[in-house]
Amino acid sequence: MSDPLSAFGRAEAYDAYAQTQRHVAEALAGRIAALPLPKAPRVLEIGCGTGFLTAALRPRIGGDWTVTDLAPEMLARCRARIGDGPGLCYRLLDGERPDLAPESFDLICSSLAFQWFADLQGALERLMALLAPGGRIAFATMAEESFAEWRAAFVFAGLEPATPLYPSITQLAALSDAAIAEEHIVERHADARAFLTALRGIGAQSPRAGHRPATAAELRRVMAAFEAGGASVTYHVAYVVVDGE
Ligand SMILES: C[S@@+](CC[C@H](N)C(=O)[O-])C[C@H]1O[C@@H](n2cnc3c(N)ncnc32)[C@H](O)[C@@H]1O
Repeated sequence: MSDPLSAFGRAEAYDAYAQTQRHVAEALAGRIAALPLPKAPRVLEIGCGTGFLTAALRPRIGGDWTVTDLAPEMLARCRARIGDGPGLCYRLLDGERPDLAPESFDLICSSLAFQWFADLQGALERLMALLAPGGRIAFATMAEESFAEWRAAFVFAGLEPATPLYPSITQLAALSDAAIAEEHIVERHADARAFLTALRGIGAQSPRAGHRPATAAELRRVMAAFEAGGASVTYHVAYVVVDGE
């Protein structure tokens, strides 16, 4: 297993495996486009990846975009998809600790990146400081019931699940009085190997911090239990909007 940043860097076939991520980015774009936004908003995107949200939202709301990611390879893939032009700037940025000017954005948006933050509450407080008056943060992130089937397979095999712990909808709603919608998306895989290949393909194979990697024999038991349960996996996605001051 590798650290998340280098795993995302190596995810060269991300788009081929990322049907759920594409769906979520498009759903988030629809929700954001329905919000009252100023004309030509100043937009900061965090964790752009290969550009699914950028591509889905930018044509709908226009504006001046600062498109960012922590992984240089991901930022380059996004730039290759979207291209250069007026009102577009690409920047390496740790979205959890953004070194940007206060009150300089009308919208901060992000699809399926905030679940990688070590401290979501602290990150949101720092991001709120970047919002101009009346600005908003809108993001999609993983919630509590994600990967329930994979976790159940670990428990069935007598092991502690390796999957990161995601917040509940109640915990997310408590963050800065957020407005939340949720969606359960079920991915069906041919078998456990296909699921693990897809997870590696999107660079998301890193286990929970501090988790001891399963041995080969343990992993075989988990994979067998996962297949006995049907080899499908749920993404529990929260769409969150936080209003600034
Ligand atoms: C699952 S991908 C989602 C990418 C894209 N938004 C999409 O919907 O396909 C997560 C992305 O978040 C980025 N990321 C992870 N931690 C980050 C951080 N602290 N700051 C900025 N980007 C981060 C990763 O490099 C990766 O590109």
